[in-house]
Amino acid sequence: MPAQPRVAVVGAGPSGLYAAAALLASEVPVDVDVLDRLPAPYGLVRYGVAPDHVKMKSVIRVLQKPFADGSRVRFLGNVRVGEGGIPLEVLREHYHAIVHASGSSVDRALGIPGEELDGSHGSGAFVSWYCGHPDFVDLDPLLDHPGVVVVGAGNVALDVARVLARGHAEMAGTDVPDRVLETLRGSAVADVHVVIRRGPEHVKFTPAELRQIGELEGVQVLVHDDGALSRGTPEAVLDTMERRQKQNLTMLTEWAGHEPGDAARRIHLHFLRTPVRLLEEGGRVAGMVVERNEVRDGKVVGTGQEETFEAGLVVRAIGYSGEPIPGLPYDERNGIVPNEAGRVVDGDRPVPGAYVTGWIKRGPTGVIGTNKGDAVETVASLLDDLHTLPDPEYPDPASVVERLEAYGIEPVTWTDWERLDAEELRLGEARGGAERVKVAELGEMLAAARSRTRV
Ligand SMILES: Cc1cc2nc3c(=O)[nH]c(=O)nc-3n(C[C@H](O)[C@H](O)[C@H](O)COP(=O)(O)OP(=O)(O)OC[C@H]3O[C@@H](n4cnc5c(N)ncnc54)[C@H](O)[C@@H]3O)c2cc1C
Ligand SMILES: NC(=O)c1ccc[n+]([C@@H]2O[C@H](COP(=O)([O-])OP(=O)(O)OC[C@H]3O[C@@H](n4cnc5c(N)ncnc54)[C@H](OP(=O)(O)O)[C@@H]3O)[C@@H](O)[C@H]2O)c1
Repeated sequence: MPAQPRVAVVGAGPSGLYAAAALLASEVPVDVDVLDRLPAPYGLVRYGVAPDHVKMKSVIRVLQKPFADGSRVRFLGNVRVGEGGIPLEVLREHYHAIVHASGSSVDRALGIPGEELDGSHGSGAFVSWYCGHPDFVDLDPLLDHPGVVVVGAGNVALDVARVLARGHAEMAGTDVPDRVLETLRGSAVADVHVVIRRGPEHVKFTPAELRQIGELEGVQVLVHDDGALSRGTPEAVLDTMERRQKQNLTMLTEWAGHEPGDAARRIHLHFLRTPVRLLEEGGRVAGMVVERNEVRDGKVVGTGQEETFEAGLVVRAIGYSGEPIPGLPYDERNGIVPNEAGRVVDGDRPVPGAYVTGWIKRGPTGVIGTNKGDAVETVASLLDDLHTLPDPEYPDPASVVERLEAYGIEPVTWTDWERLDAEELRLGEARGGAERVKVAELGEMLAAARSRTRV
């Protein structure tokens, strides 16, 4: 008799959890294991979404639904698939199909001199630090200089600028770990320079996020656009613009008229500036040299004129790339696993039983909700193929846990995660005014998750 279909989802971020929900809703009963290398679920919802975006984090109420009591979906946290964990070819022996939902967590580089200096970080590392990701507990960025440079014109650049410009008292009401809060308490940051290589009409910000920096207590936004906004946008260009871009332009035009005031901190939006090199002093970052650009025949071109921003910290928020998954084809250029409607392909041949969803499928763009339709598409491909996929060698659900143990891996179950979750809520109450406080150190996360053994 054929075994009950069993599917592993690798990655408990939004795309993996939307895939689990879609599998659970299928007419064919499917058993699903969701594996994540961390003891906590939710991927970038937990380790990317800014701590002060509390409402956004409430999406976890939807994402956790597949793990409701009695469900056919199991959480196996603290399980890395690939190097240093369970090899993919071993995992394949336990499932009909595997959905890879491991995201794109590698910071892209600018490729300019000085990028490797102390005090220069990618947004992946910097955001992970303030979000309490166990891999970045020790990043301890130096916030002892009044200047900071953030490169990029996407929402991540705005998140980083906003977190650095907010007073530490406001951040105390968020879930940032105590150690992060301590660093923010001692912050000397007064001027956050956001370096944007193109003009105001080209920013990737969403208006809601842009508006938020204008509403920060004790923070003034200053726009440096070399007069681009006051010259206005040609009617023909305006006609081609999305509503989002027009809303951004309206806000930026208003701010461009601001005179510097006596705010405690400032966020400077510097348009038409390309990073050229980082400056060093005493073995760490001391600033960034940028080249001023201009628009000629609709194209952004360098003028050869340089400008320097003094800074003790540089964060590049210029996007991410995926990581190759050993045993699967990889598209280096786009940083994704090649696929057709979620089916992994090697050239034009599908790789049987291998699927992708989320950022590793389509690249590092899109909000949380974008991953839902994406996961539904992948799961539809998988369910269409199910009758063609051979039974795995070890179809018994218990066999996976035994196999993991053979690799020295003790998975964190959903009940374990709920214990860690409860501990974080307790810490939030203890801090006062915070819904939760993250436990960031891996050993402490595991101890809280498995605290039953210590009672
Ligand atoms: C800094 C930042 C802030 C953002 N803020 C917002 C926001 O406010 N609102 C919004 O709508 N969108 C936001 N987004 C976008 C949103 O987070 C993404 O669209 C979404 O998280 C992508 O989902 P994913 O599941 O593909 O990847 P991820 O969320 O990255 O999840 C991948 C999961 O895979 C796990 N994993 C990776 N490798 C392995 C492995 N080898 N073995 C096992 N597990 C593995 C990881 O631990 C992780 O849990 C933000 C993105 C970033 C980078
Ligand atoms: N609140 C939210 O909803 C929220 C919060 C955070 C993230 N997100 C989403 O998550 C996704 C990722 O966000 P993101 O900010 O990482 O990416 P993004 O939106 O793609 O922005 C990347 C920015 O980096 C710039 N850039 C790239 N290479 C550069 C270089 N070499 N030099 C200078 N600038 C460079 C790009 O400029 P060019 O345009 O000139 O290439 C762009 O402005 C997005 O879809 C975003 O909307 C959403």
